[in-house]
Amino acid sequence: MIVAVDGPAAAGKGTLARRLAAHFGLAYLDTGSLYRAVGLRVLRAGANPDDTVAAEAAARGLTPADLTDPELRAEATGAVASKVAAQPAVRAALLQFQRDFARNPPAGAKGAVLDGRDIGTVVIPDADRKLFVTASPEERARRRWAELGAKAPPLAEVERTMAERDRRDQERAAAPLKPAPDAFLLDTSDLDIDAAFAAAKAYISGANTSGTN
Ligand code: C5P
Repeated sequence: MIVAVDGPAAAGKGTLARRLAAHFGLAYLDTGSLYRAVGLRVLRAGANPDDTVAAEAAARGLTPADLTDPELRAEATGAVASKVAAQPAVRAALLQFQRDFARNPPAGAKGAVLDGRDIGTVVIPDADRKLFVTASPEERARRRWAELGAKAPPLAEVERTMAERDRRDQERAAAPLKPAPDAFLLDTSDLDIDAAFAAAKAYISGANTSGTN
């Protein structure tokens, strides 16, 4: 069983994907952390995120330790991640790892949940279940702002940087952010996590396959 969970930043897909994985006994991979780790490696090497040679080298040199870096979740890291993620060579370097994880999940799990931007469209187009999780831009910015707590910049700035990242992710030529034609669309703007989880669970269990919540 492979479940693809795609969608824009702060739509709730990470929390949802983690909870679905625990519920169905599946392994979980946050693919955004791979792009974030590549972005951080590029920055720490003193290179420019738009430098394709440096970005591809960073992607090919990723180690498990890169994926536990506390800086991974910073807002600035998300922005750099979306720059390196626009490069086809970076995406190609990370593709096989994601596919291997899905096909041979660790610790004997009987399947996997992967969340990202292109799981249902490019990484695992034949995934058993595909969710596309969205929320309004205002609601997503508000959630990210609340998450950042005391370190949060003004809400308007969070809205602006998120809009920029959305645009970069949607408009890039390589694996742009968009729902797979057969994805189940889940708009969480007016749903709390329990309601979003219930809708996703019903879809995955086959109780709701109508294509929307
Ligand atoms: O999901 P997260 O916010 O951690 O992703 C960071 C960035 O990584 C995204 O804005 C996107 O540019 C990139 N990404 C991607 N494809 C994925 C996962 C993340 O391009 N499957």
